[in-house]
Amino acid sequence: MGSEVVKAVATAPDIELVGACDVVGVGEQLTDAPGVIIERDLEKVLTGCKPDVMVDFAKPYSLENTRLAMEHGVVPIIGSTGQTAEELAEIERLTEQTGTAAMVIPNFAIGAVLMMKFAAQAAAYLPDVEIVELHHEKKMDAPSGTSIMTAQMINAARNAAGTKPAVPVGSPEDRARGDEKHGIRIHSVRLPGLVAHQEVIFGGLGQVLTIRHDSLDRTSFMPGVLLAIRRASQAKGLTYGLDKLL
Ligand SMILES: NC(=O)c1ccc[n+]([C@@H]2O[C@H](COP(=O)([O-])OP(=O)(O)OC[C@H]3O[C@@H](n4cnc5c(N)ncnc54)[C@H](O)[C@@H]3O)[C@@H](O)[C@H]2O)c1
Repeated sequence: MGSEVVKAVATAPDIELVGACDVVGVGEQLTDAPGVIIERDLEKVLTGCKPDVMVDFAKPYSLENTRLAMEHGVVPIIGSTGQTAEELAEIERLTEQTGTAAMVIPNFAIGAVLMMKFAAQAAAYLPDVEIVELHHEKKMDAPSGTSIMTAQMINAARNAAGTKPAVPVGSPEDRARGDEKHGIRIHSVRLPGLVAHQEVIFGGLGQVLTIRHDSLDRTSFMPGVLLAIRRASQAKGLTYGLDKLL
């Protein structure tokens, strides 16, 4: 994702790439941004390059990177997934403490954001729903950040509409029924060949509605990344999810 962001930013006329940080490839020059060297020390990048924004796809997610950026007044746009609820609360607290905004965007694909919005709309009428998320085998966290956010949005929509699912969510011991987040079952598939896919399946009387999104390659995330970078200077507090920027 980092390499893809470098390519996208390098071709955006209104955004300048000033620095890069990774724990591998240290000292190498970026092919798509000649003159930019990969540094190991994030603080050195933040103080030396003085960026306005830091796009973070470190894996695993590093709260340390986020904290460092915010302490230097740099808005972190966090695409890494797998934060705990406590880490999200800590990022929100840091926005208050440092006065620097932060963005946590579990999915930068515009189509995926629309899938989540449509799912929330449908949930008001069809409250019985399960999520199947499918990703490449190297994805570390499960269930995906997108599926958790979808479940959260569906749950909020059901509560707002006053509708309740007829099917009980079941016991956590029943592993064949998947994980449970926000009262919704999520099934995680990890296989080579996959990129990032999700189905939200609603069941009703004599009918099934499936809303599906497929990210077929990593360029699908880049328009969303550029949108977040362009909005970062006006951001306040914690922005969670690309839907807040559309
Ligand atoms: N938000 C989205 O739309 C979206 C889309 C795709 C992937 N992701 C998430 O992005 C993350 C990265 O995915 P990937 O496929 O690019 O993984 P990857 O393993 O290809 O790349 C992760 C990079 O982070 C580097 N890294 C590790 N620790 C670091 C640290 N402390 N500081 C700086 N760099 C560090 C690694 O060396 C590696 O180069 C994952 O959490 C994935 O789930 C999010």
